[in-house]
Amino acid sequence: MTAAAMVAEFDAVAGWTADAVEQLGERHAIPAACRGSASPAALAWLAEACELAPGTRLLDVGAGAGGPAAWAAKRFGVRPILLEPMPAACRAASRMFGLPVILADGARIPLRDGTIDAAWCLGVLDTVRDKAALLREIHRVLAPGASLGLLVVVARDARVPAGPEGNLFPTQHDLVRLLAGTGFDLIEQIERPGDVPLSWTRRAEQVAAVVAARHRADRAYALAAHQSESFTRLFGSGQISMQLIHAVKRRGPARQASVPALRGGTMSTFEFEFKAEIEVELSLAEASRPEEVAGLPVAEWPFDPADAEREEIGLRNLMGAAEELGGHHPAGPATGPATGEATGEAERR
Ligand SMILES: C[S@@+](CC[C@H](N)C(=O)[O-])C[C@H]1O[C@@H](n2cnc3c(N)ncnc32)[C@H](O)[C@@H]1O
Repeated sequence: MTAAAMVAEFDAVAGWTADAVEQLGERHAIPAACRGSASPAALAWLAEACELAPGTRLLDVGAGAGGPAAWAAKRFGVRPILLEPMPAACRAASRMFGLPVILADGARIPLRDGTIDAAWCLGVLDTVRDKAALLREIHRVLAPGASLGLLVVVARDARVPAGPEGNLFPTQHDLVRLLAGTGFDLIEQIERPGDVPLSWTRRAEQVAAVVAARHRADRAYALAAHQSESFTRLFGSGQISMQLIHAVKRRGPARQASVPALRGGTMSTFEFEFKAEIEVELSLAEASRPEEVAGLPVAEWPFDPADAEREEIGLRNLMGAAEELGGHHPAGPATGPATGEATGEAERR
């Protein structure tokens, strides 16, 4: 991630945010420092999904100015570690929240294998070219079975152009594959809740107003503002949406997702997962053909081959149903326009 606009957005603005918070008071810090458009409702969903608890060692990869990690420490009593490649953002997080910050790239995390209880990575994946390298590295440092909370900007389909400078949005299809291929099981996914309380937006806006008053003439400010406008346009047109994901580190080896090709438009998340799940079941059923596995006379098989065949037929019928469901959604509701996204995105950028 080297685009000038991204450096402006993630480094310069983070530093200016910390300056403004110093002026306005620390109650402004968390809302202003949530740069991935995480709201209280989104953070609470992620925290509950990941079962955060007092003492949980939470690694926030691409932590930015530290708002989400500070929120998790305050509300859930976690012990956060922030990791962020932008020096000014690291300093801002440290100044505002006094939390431990590592200046590093998420694809090279300087922590030992299996030492982290849970990880968050919010608003980061779409800014990273090699998404698999980042996810593999998070997977490495997580303990077996540990949770990963993601906030991801997802493209409605592969035709969505590259986003604001430096942004490469994955499609839902890419995301499912990526997670499975890097050793994660996708447990649950929702569209980011749209509502943000006024008490929160007001404080974020006050900080933004101070930053604007001080830096409007700055080139970095103009670049960051341009990024923000591009995002607002894409959200408004429904070309991108913001998704919250709970995944867990699979205990076994990484595998390629069995993701079916999309036919006749996109599918909702539920339909997509449903179909992917059936495909996995089906390949297991096919792979466990009694005659090949057992190599025993029929009478000695430990299961009834008729049952196995019935199960396979049932799965194929379910797959047909899932394909039908997918084919009947021309607009692709999972990644369709999100009410309130434009407002939420304006906070982020
Ligand atoms: C939209 S901001 C979100 C910041 C923070 N997660 C939040 O929600 O407030 C994206 C962040 O990802 C960071 N980032 C970009 N590339 C990264 C990488 N390769 N490894 C780790 N972080 C990265 C950026 O520096 C930036 O702080």
